[in-house]
Amino acid sequence: MKSSHKKKTKATIKEEETSLSEPSSCHFFNDLPEISAYRSHLLQWYDQNKRELPWRTVAMTEPDVNIRTYAVWVSEIMLQQTQVATVIDYYDKWMKRWPTVENLAAATLEEVNQMWAGLGYYSRGRRLHEGAKKVVSDLNGQMPRCTEGLLKLLPGVGRYTAGAIGSIALGQVTGAVDGNVIRVLCRVRAIGADSTGPVVTEALWKIANTIVDTERPGDFNQAMMELGARVCTPKSPLCSQCPIQTHCHAFRKVSIKQEQDSKRLQSKLASKLNTSVPEIENCCKFSKFIL
Ligand code: ADE
Repeated sequence: MKSSHKKKTKATIKEEETSLSEPSSCHFFNDLPEISAYRSHLLQWYDQNKRELPWRTVAMTEPDVNIRTYAVWVSEIMLQQTQVATVIDYYDKWMKRWPTVENLAAATLEEVNQMWAGLGYYSRGRRLHEGAKKVVSDLNGQMPRCTEGLLKLLPGVGRYTAGAIGSIALGQVTGAVDGNVIRVLCRVRAIGADSTGPVVTEALWKIANTIVDTERPGDFNQAMMELGARVCTPKSPLCSQCPIQTHCHAFRKVSIKQEQDSKRLQSKLASKLNTSVPEIENCCKFSKFIL
């Protein structure tokens, strides 16, 4: 008894260690045709449903890579803690006043803070301004041209923001994992563990970097964000409208459970009816009329 208890504990610990250091392969995308189908389902939905947002228009139409990168940088910093609907007006005004990184670098911090008034978290505006001055003084006015450079050189640009700017403005094939994308991926791969821990975070980045579309990485990442914001919402997700429903392990699990519950309920009801209501052919009073 004692030794079996000891054995069980060891096995449990081993299992826990394995699951902590290496998430199970069922949580990843291992099948190339599935990845390909996932990308095309998501991008088709995005093409038909995306919101026209000013930074998206700049990313698609601005031919100057320096202006494009600056414009997407501004949008991503504004969007870090503020809703899309609120950002639009601020973004338009900002880009009208400071259309290039040189223009922003030449502004004063007071002007920047004035423009930022109402958006909250003023350190974001201050870091944008600091970054612009750094690009002008240290990088000859040239915005970094890759995700790594954005991450290393720009203050206020973390892993997500670098991935977003890199993919949207520079076409870099990299994932971008923000809060919306975390929720979508955890559902799509049925990851129930705490998504704020380092193991799950790394697993989610690995998944995002694996599934990002190689031809349209920026659209793919924005489609993931859009899906999280509008369909795969925190409460009452709209699964019936989801373009990647067939890839979603959480949806599959819930559907199977609902099917099982409904079958159980049906058989429970049937057995209750069987015991409480006699079979009609056993009711001799009526059986001659029915049979
Ligand atoms: N949130 C962060 N970046 C975004 C983007 N490019 N489009 C919509 N929402 C976003």
